[in-house]
Amino acid sequence: MFGDYEVRNGHLYISGADTVELAKKYGTPLYVMSEDVVRASCRELKGALDKYYDSCGMITYASKAMCVKEMCRIVACEGLGIDCVSGGELYTAKEAGVPMEKVHYHGNNKTDDEIRFGLDMKVGKFIVDSYEELIKVNKFAGEKGIVQKILIRVTPGVDAHTHDFIKTGQIDSKFGFAIETGAAEEISKKAVTLENVFLSGFHCHIGSQIFEKEPFVETAEIMLDFINDMENKLGMTFTNLVLGGGFGIKYTEDDKPLPYDEILKPVLLYVKERRIKEGKDLIRLGFEPGRSIAGPAGVTLYTVGSVKEIPGIRTYVSVDGGMGDNPRYILYQAKYEFLIAGRADQPKEKIVSVCGKCCESGDMLGENVPLGEVSEGDILAVKATGAYNYSMASNYNRIPRPPVVFVSKGEDRLCVKRESYEDLVKLDI
Ligand code: LLP
Repeated sequence: MFGDYEVRNGHLYISGADTVELAKKYGTPLYVMSEDVVRASCRELKGALDKYYDSCGMITYASKAMCVKEMCRIVACEGLGIDCVSGGELYTAKEAGVPMEKVHYHGNNKTDDEIRFGLDMKVGKFIVDSYEELIKVNKFAGEKGIVQKILIRVTPGVDAHTHDFIKTGQIDSKFGFAIETGAAEEISKKAVTLENVFLSGFHCHIGSQIFEKEPFVETAEIMLDFINDMENKLGMTFTNLVLGGGFGIKYTEDDKPLPYDEILKPVLLYVKERRIKEGKDLIRLGFEPGRSIAGPAGVTLYTVGSVKEIPGIRTYVSVDGGMGDNPRYILYQAKYEFLIAGRADQPKEKIVSVCGKCCESGDMLGENVPLGEVSEGDILAVKATGAYNYSMASNYNRIPRPPVVFVSKGEDRLCVKRESYEDLVKLDI
């Protein structure tokens, strides 16, 4: 959960691979992902579930964090399921050979085509997010002669302390059905009357980049109360509860994430003890982290093109990427740690602003960040960029997207090619 960085002879290494050499071999900008970190995260997550919850549950990787075939293959190989939020993510998972019964299919506004595609793919569970979707899943499943398992997405009303744009558990949200307003109860009552869907439980997700344990326990408490209430009212038993993802990671020294074992222990024990006390079987518990699996595994490498000092104002360090490959600063003022890959041990006395090459003043990767000596031709490394960078990348200014290289134990392999100019016009008519 904390990355796998090392400095050898002044160079930054990730999982045994020299980032300076990687930049030489593949060019920049370049996304580098550590397979070892991804695998370690998957194992820690599953380990916590085994240790505190008798292995009665499933971890699904939220592929929105980084959805390419190799990433899907690695997490599936570790035994995780996959959360897909669009037809495109589902297609990627299918192409990667992910077992479809381990797919959770999300989306607050799945199109008719996406719903049919999910049914045809035989995804494990639809996470139903609207009344309209429920009706359509039931109708299309009926047409195909199948009964589709579903979970209903519920907003538990928990306020996670994170950026407003990535909070999702409160009532005022485009996602899910609120417990407080009665909407969650109403949709559950409707779902159990439908013939071609089978409601096996409930889902919630309170937000992202959360560092505290308490909101997860609080959420579990609310969700179990709700489930008990529904079981009483509907006279049936629900076997699944997904508590979402959202575990925070370390972007800079200010971030102090807890190991999975610590953040999961209280919520797992709470659910287990409560179920035992209530004389009920353990409910199958799910978590769907994305950032904490992909984020710490990634590093982005850029080449510095120019350094512009404006006396008394600031120093702009321009790199050969920017908001196109990492829009997170522009969107959330996200903070990162920057360093020069070939002098990773130099003192960071110089404060600079790292900007991209887009025709937009706001195209920044970090403002007033410590970096140290820097000049044209240096390789600039940005840590913890494995999540929500490649997946949110764009071709703004018709800049091709960088390739993705995975490394493991010092070995590197290209998993996504660099886009070419031909790729950029491929769909133009
Ligand atoms: N499950 C659901 C239903 C979600 O909406 C999300 C994230 C996750 C799981 C995974 O959450 P994670 O473990 O990655 O925190 N683009 C933003 C993050 C948006 C998160 C959206 N939903 C960013 O760059 O920070």
